[in-house]
Amino acid sequence: MEVSISGAVSVLPRIGDKAPDFEALTTIGTIKFSEYAKNSWVILFSHPADFTPVCTTELVEFAKEIDFFNKHNTKLIGLSVDSIHSHIAWVQNIKEKLGVTLSYPLVADISMNVARLYGMLHPGESQTATVRAVFFIDPHMTIRLVLYYPLNVGRSMEEIKRVLISLQTADNYSCALPANWQPGQKVIVPPPKTLQELEERVKANYEKVDFYLAKREL
Ligand code: BEZ
Repeated sequence: MEVSISGAVSVLPRIGDKAPDFEALTTIGTIKFSEYAKNSWVILFSHPADFTPVCTTELVEFAKEIDFFNKHNTKLIGLSVDSIHSHIAWVQNIKEKLGVTLSYPLVADISMNVARLYGMLHPGESQTATVRAVFFIDPHMTIRLVLYYPLNVGRSMEEIKRVLISLQTADNYSCALPANWQPGQKVIVPPPKTLQELEERVKANYEKVDFYLAKREL
């Protein structure tokens, strides 16, 4: 889908697309995204503005879950169109007021170049600020899942963690995940694509609802 931001056309990256590479100034220095992302999953997320209440709660939640993301080989990187000075002051303020250290980098995308590259500017929602976008990018730099939230609704950290585990589980076990799936629950066995797979499916000890819907333990 193409959207126009102040005359410049922005293409929203879709699931299955290669994650666009970029070089940007961040709170840990200048980084090349593909180097930062090398061999790991990455969650790239945007927030509308520094020193705003909902954004503060979200960035704190990401920081509190850093051990979870490390355990799941996942790096975090935040972004807004604020300056590096604003980011540094806000990160320091969060540390002083809330006792939380934001150890992941924040991109200072003052030119809006990265925001345009990733379709994070939704002019109907805001002409000047990025929406709350979340891109889940796998170690091959492929975009695997995208979430968008408006300016006035904070993201669910439980859902962010759930979909990350879902993506990794689907890859590791060649399965799909049913609605509301939670780790530990049964997964969906993909429908058979050969007669042999059909035969195996008939014999297997799956929870079978019909030929197209079968579940198994991991
Ligand atoms: C917030 O994070 O609270 C916020 C940011 C931009 C617009 C509205 C709310």
